[in-house]
Amino acid sequence: MSGLILVTGGCGYVGCRLVPALLDQGWRVRVLDAQFFGDLVPRRSVPERLDVRKADIRDENAVAAALQGVDTVIHLAAMSNDPSAELDPELTRAINLDATVRLIRRAKAEGVARFVNASTATVYGVRAEPDVDEATPHRPISLYGRFKSETDLFLSAESGRGFAGVNLRAATVCGWSPRMRLDLTVNIFAAQAVAAGRLRVHGGQQRRPNVVIEDLVRAYLLLANADAELVCGQSFNVCASNHTVLELAEIVAASAAPACEIVIEPVQDARSYHVSARKIAEQLNFSCHYDVSDGAKQVAQAIGSGRLADPAAAIHSNIRHLLETGVAVRRAPHDARLVAARGP
Ligand SMILES: NC(=O)c1ccc[n+]([C@@H]2O[C@H](COP(=O)([O-])OP(=O)(O)OC[C@H]3O[C@@H](n4cnc5c(N)ncnc54)[C@H](O)[C@@H]3O)[C@@H](O)[C@H]2O)c1
Repeated sequence: MSGLILVTGGCGYVGCRLVPALLDQGWRVRVLDAQFFGDLVPRRSVPERLDVRKADIRDENAVAAALQGVDTVIHLAAMSNDPSAELDPELTRAINLDATVRLIRRAKAEGVARFVNASTATVYGVRAEPDVDEATPHRPISLYGRFKSETDLFLSAESGRGFAGVNLRAATVCGWSPRMRLDLTVNIFAAQAVAAGRLRVHGGQQRRPNVVIEDLVRAYLLLANADAELVCGQSFNVCASNHTVLELAEIVAASAAPACEIVIEPVQDARSYHVSARKIAEQLNFSCHYDVSDGAKQVAQAIGSGRLADPAAAIHSNIRHLLETGVAVRRAPHDARLVAARGP
């Protein structure tokens, strides 16, 4: 592969694993990232094929310049989870909805052939039924889920006539990255198990889909490289397993710190859902190679070896870091309702 690919948000948790994998495949990679969490993209190889630009996707001039000569876009930049999206609803709307819609339109106008969008299983909301598939109507229950849903549907509607948009609806990710997030369920558990010898489980019976970061990266590579007619206008769930939160804690404990204690506390987040990854298996022959125990082991090893020096640091929690650095300002809860009620 010798094309030029633009990865927005490429300095983030997923991007810091995806960018080296794209370089390994032979892509020339341009990263556009506001670097809210710094720039930890590995520079170990082929620096002449990597162009990292510190810029915001809300900056239309920076986006226009970054799209020059690009064949393919992988769009990761976002307020990237429910709690950080709720912090500052106007900021979330500006990035996750307005700037994302502009980016899709601009990419299409500039002749980009493939646009892979970081969507999420959160678009489905809380569902009682097992095996929620890609045809299930969206029922997001958070601002994050709602803007992800709107941009996911917008991309599908814009697809066709030489512009192949495809949504990757990821389960919650786990495993190691140079830009480490310890605010994701399995990663939180692994850090607690190693650092405190105790796992705190809220509730436990909620089902949560998960995927290990290596498999997510493989899925992004697949969607970037697949024949256009197989992916154009499509969405694909990517998920390794759908364990309950208590099962996740037990798997993490067994794989990361067998002596640790599991403490059950009152439920804080009742979201429960169960997604099917059958479509990507049947249509693109993709299956996950790793399970959550592998992700937990990676995190435990990173902490145990000192590679992850300070697991308690704010930089590993999006919400804490965005507040501490002033990127986001906590608004009154009613602001979130106003933004949510106004419509796109
Ligand atoms: N990590 C998960 O479990 C998960 C699951 C499903 C979907 N996703 C989606 O995948 C994408 C990547 O997630 P992640 O875990 O790597 O998140 P992350 O927060 O680690 O990375 C996001 C990156 O985007 C950048 N960014 C944010 N706003 C920007 C802006 N306005 N302009 C330029 N750059 C900006 C940040 O600086 C950061 O480097 C996100 O869109 C997220 O919603 C993640």
